[in-house]
Amino acid sequence: MKITFLGHAVFLIENKKNIIIDPFISGNPAYPSGFALPKIDYILVTHGHGDHIGNTVELSEKFDATVISNFEICNYLKTKGVKKIHPMHIGGSKEFEFGKLKMTPALHGSGIIENNEIIYGGTPGGFLISSEKTIYHAGDTGLTKDMELLQLQDVDVAILPIGGNFVMDVDDAVKAAEMIKPKIVIPMHYNTWDVINADDKKFKMLIEKLGIKCVILKPGESLEV
Ligand code: NI
Ligand code: MN
Repeated sequence: MKITFLGHAVFLIENKKNIIIDPFISGNPAYPSGFALPKIDYILVTHGHGDHIGNTVELSEKFDATVISNFEICNYLKTKGVKKIHPMHIGGSKEFEFGKLKMTPALHGSGIIENNEIIYGGTPGGFLISSEKTIYHAGDTGLTKDMELLQLQDVDVAILPIGGNFVMDVDDAVKAAEMIKPKIVIPMHYNTWDVINADDKKFKMLIEKLGIKCVILKPGESLEV
């Protein structure tokens, strides 16, 4: 499985199918400029905020991709013209062509802002993708004791937010890793804007003290697992 970081919370996962998570491309200061996406088969959206729904509508049309998100976001996207949706919800899992997918809880918001109004976007989540390896994308979340349950899922790669302010900071993300016990941690959701600046070198040092490998990917870089 090839995991490519595309800045902020955007990850491309190439396995049997090509999956993009939280495709915030236009307006994403951290998106690697000029990076051309392969044909996308599935778009996974963790929650309703603009920096996560991003270009979901355009990409689903361009690639005829299926969007997987919570029930409320899927129904919202249907009203925006997305043809292929697969609604799920927190705690639910389903087999897809690329492997098994489970929606995990996240401690955050999920409101969709449109014309200065907030549309209910259900509850925010994360995704656990299990194929040859198990990858956990936490979405936007604060530290929660629920993460301890992920220990039972034998996570190979945990992708965790570290930018603080809206999500876990470095110290909380280290505590999260301690609970999840993955083999590898990749930090995300930091340094996109000043308000979420974080020290990834300190994060790496603290994670590796736990005996867990930490891989810092620059936007555009990949990790094969
Ligand atoms: Ni958010
Ligand atoms: Mn966010």
